[in-house]
Amino acid sequence: MTTVNRQVRLAKRPVGRPDDSTWEITSEPIPEPSDGEFTVKVDYVSLDPAMRGWLDDVKSYVPPVAIGEVMRTHAVGRVVASKNAKFPEGQLVSGQFGVQEYALSDGRGALAVDESLAPAPTWLGALGFPGMTAYFGLTDVGRLEKGDTVLISGAAGAVGSIAGQIAKLKGATVIGVAGGPEKCAWLTEDLGFDAAIDYKSESVGKALRAAAPDGIDIYFDNVGGEILDAALARLRKNARVALCGAISGYNATDPQPGPSRYLSLLVNRASMTGFIVFDYLDRFPEGMEAMSEWIRAGEIVTREQVETGGVEAFGRTLNLLFDGANTGKLVLKIS
Ligand SMILES: NC(=O)c1ccc[n+]([C@@H]2O[C@H](COP(=O)([O-])OP(=O)(O)OC[C@H]3O[C@@H](n4cnc5c(N)ncnc54)[C@H](OP(=O)(O)O)[C@@H]3O)[C@@H](O)[C@H]2O)c1
Repeated sequence: MTTVNRQVRLAKRPVGRPDDSTWEITSEPIPEPSDGEFTVKVDYVSLDPAMRGWLDDVKSYVPPVAIGEVMRTHAVGRVVASKNAKFPEGQLVSGQFGVQEYALSDGRGALAVDESLAPAPTWLGALGFPGMTAYFGLTDVGRLEKGDTVLISGAAGAVGSIAGQIAKLKGATVIGVAGGPEKCAWLTEDLGFDAAIDYKSESVGKALRAAAPDGIDIYFDNVGGEILDAALARLRKNARVALCGAISGYNATDPQPGPSRYLSLLVNRASMTGFIVFDYLDRFPEGMEAMSEWIRAGEIVTREQVETGGVEAFGRTLNLLFDGANTGKLVLKIS
């Protein structure tokens, strides 16, 4: 049995898109648990667009990852040694274990994973932060109501694909924006979206006028940029924009222009609210219960794209998000 733990550490802060020089692979002995701790053998790590922001030395909702620090991420793995009765050896757990093969945890923020409900990677997707982001972003920030017309960008991704399905389950008309015909077909044929707009081959503004002639009540924004402007131009009175993310600008080296159609918020007495899923931690039991029920009943399609290659593949796998090369939740198999 190996005694070595290989890890991905931040070597250098990237300017623009991260590349090989951003990361360093290091090795150290597998950590041994002290009282109250356990050691996890990491099976899968989560790849998230937000990771790009954590690499910049700027004030944000969490401190930046420090140079030399193991890259922060949520992961799922199995307990291989334990001095914590809540997490015995053999238990599958999720937690913020970092991009490494083995992690030490004191149990804070860790969750025992119920493999009978869904396989391990789903606990980083629909049953993890992306699923909770979709749930609270729509129901709380978007104040979703039956009969609403909802527009979702990044619709074929981890958050967007779940958000669209929740909106359908709650009686909304749902339009997704995604890149490419395969993603758009998946949205309408497999996930039940009412319409899908391929922003790479058609004008979002024009397609949106056709798909939502009376405008939209909610825009769940995952991408920012020009698609945000097209959405603002179609708001209805009292519309809500849930500002979840703006991936179109995450690797930009110049300041990004603000939305030029923002006066639509005034004209339509609309609101645009940014949110961070971590602020809903105390309400996660509510979101997890709803999501578990939908999964159990087969009412939500969950999809993960599992990449292989272990820690060495982390850098190139992360960049798949910025290339739009993932459908559903992107995860990397570590062991
Ligand atoms: N506020 C929060 O607490 C919170 C929590 C989790 C995630 N988020 C945000 O939610 C968004 C989605 O995250 P996710 O984990 O679900 O990622 P994801 O949607 O699974 O993956 C990213 C997707 O973004 C799209 N994309 C990339 N570059 C783009 C561009 N220039 N213009 C338009 N679309 C682009 C790509 O899809 P296409 O092929 O369709 O282009 C890509 O597949 C991100 O902005 C993320 O930061 C926020």
